[in-house]
Amino acid sequence: MLLNNYEKKHLAELRPHLAECTVLLRREDEAFPLEKPCRLALFGSGARRTVKGGTGSGEVNSRFFVTVEQGLKDAGFLITTNAWLDAYEERYAAARKAWVRRTKKEAHRAGVPAPLYGMGRVMPEPDYEIPLEPEGDAAVYVLARISGEGSDREPVRGDVKLTETEIRDILTLNACFEKFMLVLNVGGPVDLSEIPQVRNILLLSQLGVETGTALAQILLGQANPSGHLTTSWSAWEDYPRIGDFGDRNDTHYREGIYVGYRYFDSIGKKALFPFGFGLSYTSFARRLQSVRREGTRILLTVTVKNTGRLAGREVLQLYLSLPQGRLDQPFQKLAAFEKTDELEPGAEETLSLAFDLKDQAAYDTARAAWILEAGEYILRLGTSSRDTEAAARIALPEEVTVRQLRNALGEPDFEDWKPEPVAEKEACAYPDLPMLLLKKEDFETETVSYERLEKLVDGLAVLSDDELIRLNIGAFDPKAGLLGVIGDAGLSVAGAAGETTLTLRERSIPSLVMADGPAGLRLAPRFWRDKKGAHSADGGGLPDSVGEWLPAPVRAAADVLSSPKKMPDEAKIEYQYCTAVPIGTALAQSWNIGFAALCGDIVGAEMERFGVQLWLAPALNIHRSVLCGRNFEYFSEDPLISGKMAAALTRGVQLHPGCGVTVKHFAANNQENNRYGNNSQVSERAMREIYLKGFEIAVKEAQPAALMTSYNLLNGIHTAERRDLIWDVLRCEFGFEGIVMTDWIVSFMADRKNRHPKVSPRLVAAAGGELFMPGSKADFKDMRAGLREGSLSRAQLERNASRLLKLIRRLTPEE
Ligand code: BGC
Repeated sequence: MLLNNYEKKHLAELRPHLAECTVLLRREDEAFPLEKPCRLALFGSGARRTVKGGTGSGEVNSRFFVTVEQGLKDAGFLITTNAWLDAYEERYAAARKAWVRRTKKEAHRAGVPAPLYGMGRVMPEPDYEIPLEPEGDAAVYVLARISGEGSDREPVRGDVKLTETEIRDILTLNACFEKFMLVLNVGGPVDLSEIPQVRNILLLSQLGVETGTALAQILLGQANPSGHLTTSWSAWEDYPRIGDFGDRNDTHYREGIYVGYRYFDSIGKKALFPFGFGLSYTSFARRLQSVRREGTRILLTVTVKNTGRLAGREVLQLYLSLPQGRLDQPFQKLAAFEKTDELEPGAEETLSLAFDLKDQAAYDTARAAWILEAGEYILRLGTSSRDTEAAARIALPEEVTVRQLRNALGEPDFEDWKPEPVAEKEACAYPDLPMLLLKKEDFETETVSYERLEKLVDGLAVLSDDELIRLNIGAFDPKAGLLGVIGDAGLSVAGAAGETTLTLRERSIPSLVMADGPAGLRLAPRFWRDKKGAHSADGGGLPDSVGEWLPAPVRAAADVLSSPKKMPDEAKIEYQYCTAVPIGTALAQSWNIGFAALCGDIVGAEMERFGVQLWLAPALNIHRSVLCGRNFEYFSEDPLISGKMAAALTRGVQLHPGCGVTVKHFAANNQENNRYGNNSQVSERAMREIYLKGFEIAVKEAQPAALMTSYNLLNGIHTAERRDLIWDVLRCEFGFEGIVMTDWIVSFMADRKNRHPKVSPRLVAAAGGELFMPGSKADFKDMRAGLREGSLSRAQLERNASRLLKLIRRLTPEE
């Protein structure tokens, strides 16, 4: 296949890192890696139907992609199970057809358009009887799952749980073959508790273009898995049921700060595969070298040695246990992490792990302050949250107020759950551990000011009210149909998700083009141009997954609906192939900040090439429940790793002149069910410590160009309409300088059955959200009415427009 040079370069840059995103969950003998390519019995849903990433706006259109079957064949394996793979294809296609038909009927009965009803919906893997023919020198079973925007996963067989067919076939192969590997081509956890006897399990994850190539390299030992989990993998029954999930109207985050390992560790329960866990083809030893402090920064140096027989990389994790005081605290939280370079057998590397104790403060809602309570803090060093050793202590004799804020974000209708305090047997059990003493005087209390004067750009006065409103709304084509706003509302670049207004060109105000991610850049691969802009040549640039839900005539006409006119016969087709990188969760599993920056750099280069200024990524919502259908786009259940990954991606993209990121979805958007009308009820403490923390890190470390609010409400008010969230928290506390945009078609999509009101464009603008996306005539009229009736002021529209104009100037300097 002929590739452009940039495609070759980007694939070559990604290739050495793909195994870093994969997690070896079990390795009970040394059956793997294999010595050489062999006769291989290959089975499972992901063998031929390999998933490179999930569905929805996160789908990336690369020129090609390597399935597991293809990757293994390319590497020289002889696949012995073609008959099984062919038979599976038939069973799957029949099951899918029947399921789509059934689901369309359900949609009809529910009165919801099929594309919306079916969006992201997971078809549970079917059961079947296909003889296994266990022929070959080794066997691999690839279990795949896919999910996506618009729907959540379900804790049923064929989704979170394995099917009876999968369990039967996996156990048979495990018993028949000395060399058997179960490979998980999934975007989030599956419940592995029913197959404890399987000796070798690799979480391959979904790695973009070369997913299959990466597996071949790992099986052959050309690459060593060095990923660690960023979410707890547990038996479904062991996940907490304290808060609820999935209600269409209200979701109660009753578990408060006890999300993921903060829950498991605090109640003393070990998840099947805990947060931070990951094995390797080699082994490592670590030696703590030093513990010291510089002001309030704590620094540890640790030497890691490769004690095994293959080259590999190790991840070190540093956790901090805070003293239980007035505020309850989780058993521990991640405070820092580092990854070694590739170490040859016998080689060593000394890593520095550092964090500022100020950043580990807890939020005291009663006092609206980040505080560090008096007591003993324990540092724990390890390679997973359940495999740590206490490494040092910090003594803080007096309580410290680190930062004084004011309360914000409203209140839920419950008090957060607290675990029974686990007796801290260890507190005084480490008399020999190094002890650092920090005093109140080492800290300075910072008081946040909520008064900020912003200098507006010149020339706003000459703009008419209508022109100002245009700047506050995305570019819309008043004639475009529904498809013109779903996922293909960009006019200058085909398949771009949106754009800022095009109506002010005569005032020399160019537009900013926005395209989705996060697993790369999502654009229409084939397009044509006319005077109005660029148009997708295939189905309106919609994500492929939406196509299946459209009636055939609509599908055929999709580009007519989304484009001003049909593609002329003489139109010249142009191409824009983008590189699909590992999904967000896989990227985070690498624990490699440098790799995240590289992925950002790759995306940035493609943005420059195709004329996109804003990438609608990274997405850093928290894995609150394994059921969230979009978790694959997100990094982790932990805010630190989420924030660090988002910051690194941001740096990578924003290295490119004219390119910026859009961190999303701000915030508490952790479920897809009725995402437009769902009210997340969350305490202020949980918001600040868990759901906002990653955004805070990304903003403070890397200053993303833009941010996207979420669809949901937060404690009764849509996030896009919350001035306290946008002004107090984001701008004044975090110091965000970029622009704030809404998620797409927030108001349009609201369902009449919703208990909560839909978003109002005028309230969004009044709250300081700069851009209502992707924009429509109705949004324009609403803002105009708001201005007339006084619920929206011209001064606010000017402030919003001013920030947007500053960004436009920064990202389009030559125009
Ligand atoms: C998604 C966003 C995406 C936007 C534009 C929305 O449905 O929630 O993540 O960026 O569409 O495609």
